[in-house]
Amino acid sequence: MAVKSSELYRFLPMRIDDLNMVHNLEADSYQFPWTKEIIRDCILYNYDSYSVFFGDKIIGYIISKISYPETHILNLTVNSKFRNNGIGTSLIQLIIDDARIRNSKDIILEVRTSNASAQSLYKKLKFEIIGLRKDYYECKEGREDALVLKLEL
Ligand SMILES: CC(C)(COP(=O)(O)OP(=O)(O)OC[C@H]1O[C@@H](n2cnc3c(N)ncnc32)[C@H](O)[C@@H]1OP(=O)(O)O)[C@@H](O)C(=O)NCCC(=O)NCCS
Repeated sequence: MAVKSSELYRFLPMRIDDLNMVHNLEADSYQFPWTKEIIRDCILYNYDSYSVFFGDKIIGYIISKISYPETHILNLTVNSKFRNNGIGTSLIQLIIDDARIRNSKDIILEVRTSNASAQSLYKKLKFEIIGLRKDYYECKEGREDALVLKLEL
């Protein structure tokens, strides 16, 4: 029987053993990556996080904090070679499902105003723009604003 490529991805709760691979992917993916210590603390403090494995390699992850009434998605990253395969969508869907089960009322996240591809993904998932955080992110020259997006559950 043929194996679909989507069956080769395994979505697992993030563990401390994942730290080095998650941090390497973070460093490869952003101009201003999170430090290893920030990611370590998210794992140790039981943030709601998943790693995506392709074989024994981590090719994506999501870090969020599910709470009542509000859930916050803090980081979503997919290896550039694996993008546009639905992995980002599946990671967000995992958090939406967990948040609903835990009675969260909505999910919020921030996204750079320049990040058109991520904004398009969130729009597809029915997130709506609810605000703007001025100078929220570091950027090469000065600071960049963040759009605040919300999904009502
Ligand atoms: C944002 C990101 C996580 C999406 O992951 P992904 O696995 O490619 O996402 P999916 O395959 O589930 O969804 C792809 C969707 O993204 C959007 N998208 C992707 N590339 C795009 C592009 N070049 N232009 C416009 N929209 C784009 C589309 O909505 C697309 O949906 P479609 O295939 O139905 O058109 C990934 O691009 C990434 O890691 N980017 C760098 C880190 C980042 O920006 N993270 C988000 C920070 S807020």
